[in-house]
Amino acid sequence: MSLITAIPRELQTSPAAAASLLLALEVPRIFAALMSQTKEIPLMEKIVSLCKRRGFIFQSSEIYGGINGFWDYGPLGAELKRNLRDTWWRAMTRDREDVVGLDATIIMHPAIWKASGHVDTFSDPMVDCLVTKKRFRADHVEPQTGTVLGFDGAIEREYLDNLHAFVGEEIDLTKGDPEEYAKLRATKRIPGGPSPGSEVLTILGDGGHRVQETKPHMVVRHPFQLLVKGHKESARKMVTAFYQSRGMSDPVPFRETVSRVENSRAFNPENGAQLTEPKPFNLMFHTYVGATATDDDKAYLRPETAQAIFAQFKNVVDSTRQKVPFGVCQIGKAFRNEVTPRNFTFRSREFEQMELEFFIKPDEAIEAVCGSVAQWSEGADLSAPQPNWGWEMWHRYWVAQRTAYYAGIGLGADVLDYFWQGKADLAHYARACVDILFKFPFGTEELEGIAARGDFDLTAHQTASGKPQEVFDDEVKQAFGKWTDEQRAALVEQKKAEQRAKEKGGMTDEQTAAWCDRLFKGFYVPHVIEPSAGLDRLALAVLTLAYTEVEKTDANGNKETLTVMRFHPRIAPKKVAVFPLLKNKPELVAKAREIYETLKKHLAADYDEGGSIGKRYARQDEAGTPFCVTVDFDTLGEKGPELKDTVTLRHRDSGEQERVQISELLDRLLPLVS
Ligand code: GAP
Repeated sequence: MSLITAIPRELQTSPAAAASLLLALEVPRIFAALMSQTKEIPLMEKIVSLCKRRGFIFQSSEIYGGINGFWDYGPLGAELKRNLRDTWWRAMTRDREDVVGLDATIIMHPAIWKASGHVDTFSDPMVDCLVTKKRFRADHVEPQTGTVLGFDGAIEREYLDNLHAFVGEEIDLTKGDPEEYAKLRATKRIPGGPSPGSEVLTILGDGGHRVQETKPHMVVRHPFQLLVKGHKESARKMVTAFYQSRGMSDPVPFRETVSRVENSRAFNPENGAQLTEPKPFNLMFHTYVGATATDDDKAYLRPETAQAIFAQFKNVVDSTRQKVPFGVCQIGKAFRNEVTPRNFTFRSREFEQMELEFFIKPDEAIEAVCGSVAQWSEGADLSAPQPNWGWEMWHRYWVAQRTAYYAGIGLGADVLDYFWQGKADLAHYARACVDILFKFPFGTEELEGIAARGDFDLTAHQTASGKPQEVFDDEVKQAFGKWTDEQRAALVEQKKAEQRAKEKGGMTDEQTAAWCDRLFKGFYVPHVIEPSAGLDRLALAVLTLAYTEVEKTDANGNKETLTVMRFHPRIAPKKVAVFPLLKNKPELVAKAREIYETLKKHLAADYDEGGSIGKRYARQDEAGTPFCVTVDFDTLGEKGPELKDTVTLRHRDSGEQERVQISELLDRLLPLVS
């Protein structure tokens, strides 16, 4: 068997870490190979290229040049995504008694998006490069430091030459507007000549005949700044390009200033040109429903799956036996017209979300029923929900649940991180929000957000639709029934004080009193915890995590670098591949096909008889298939009865090979892949 040397993935992304560790291990050969590879092709490029070559992910509409921010999943990618979807669905609803599913439409009544706030506020600040017109998300522009050249405007060279000739002296371009300067001179020299400030300047020669008439764009008084990147000459070319884009042919910029900026986001990181001021850009795609296509027919492609869950909340309550606390989950497409789609599928314009809205009682109701609300502290037991849990314990519980889900598909603590939003970053209605981050090759970025959103969403739909979204909870009614009038009055006062203290979105005293009154009678709008994950981001995370390079030396001493996709068997696109040792031996082929036919009824299986066994292993390694089964002459009993009806089972990650009875194969494999 050939020697296979695995290159740990952290070494692929950090040449410095690679250097110290590998030198310590005295493996200079691998080190040299690794360093030259990482220098040659960045990891993400290799992953993107593998995705295309092996059919994980293709650029959408590639034969027409592609369309930015849209991606298609090929045969292996479609299987991978389906497995991720299935593991999520199983963990979030099938394995639980307190969560049910929903499958809603992508286009919904536009009033939903008005009520949710998306029509008015679902926007990103965008900036445009003043030279190339390229658009950026303002908050994605890297802060830059350096020297800035600034100009007040530019004048056409031909016109400037005429002005020179007219005033009979060089016009000092550092002083300001050359035309204004010339007008001043003209006023002095010609009685009744053009006055300063006139819109169009006609300069008359000494003899009274016309020598120059201004044309459009002779002077452009638009200030422009540029962060000098590299040579000053190339900076000047950029300035010329800016004024040319304003209709000039040979612009001479005037009134140059030089300054310095620190950590500025005002310049295009690619060419240094000034960016426009940020403008909000609504991210929702819209369309028209029906043939008339008036503004009244305007509808939106949903930018998140969550709102359908809120809009159908009452129907779910009325059609199931679920009682708060319970959840509704959904997987489906979402669309956002992202200003700058980037990092492969990470920020796409069409993507899939996997969202849960978990509805809970308000803390005031818990307090009435249980006497107090459980407080979270480090190490608190989150293994099983308790009746005295308020929003904080539920929120922590879902963070723990989602973390356990990720561990179950191979994304352990070493590749995840958490970002707890500070009070200042939170939406006014949110109580807490944590982003679960994954260490992508391009940085540690959000995979999922888990927010405690209070009763904001259902209340917004209740107000906008006029349809009550409250539930009736007899237990809560009974509990408050035992309270004294003084206790109830104290709660009303406490709530009023809390609401008054809110900077934004607080209820009036009247509204608070009405809210308390409903609560005392057992009615409330449930609060919600929302774990919201991106399926495409998860697919990208597992693809980047699985990607591993191994160096193989064949019998002739030739080395080659092979790719192994080390997916967790639960999510691998294919679980097992079956090979006959030789394709021209009918008995081997017949046996292998028989095994394949049996296995494929239970798990995603592949059959391959092309090329050497080594080549077939390599093909399956690239696809991430965790197990390969080879039927050989021993299987047919040629070496005696002990090995008859056994096959070689090869494990992708260890390279280990073992003989297994055909009759035991399925029982061996199923627990490993499900
Ligand atoms: N309902 C809450 C919500 O939509 P979000 O943080 O905007 O929250 C949730 O989105 C998740 O959806 C993100 O954590 C991410 O995984 C995924 N997501 C959001 N925008 C995306 C995009 N443009 N491309 C791919 N995935 C995206």
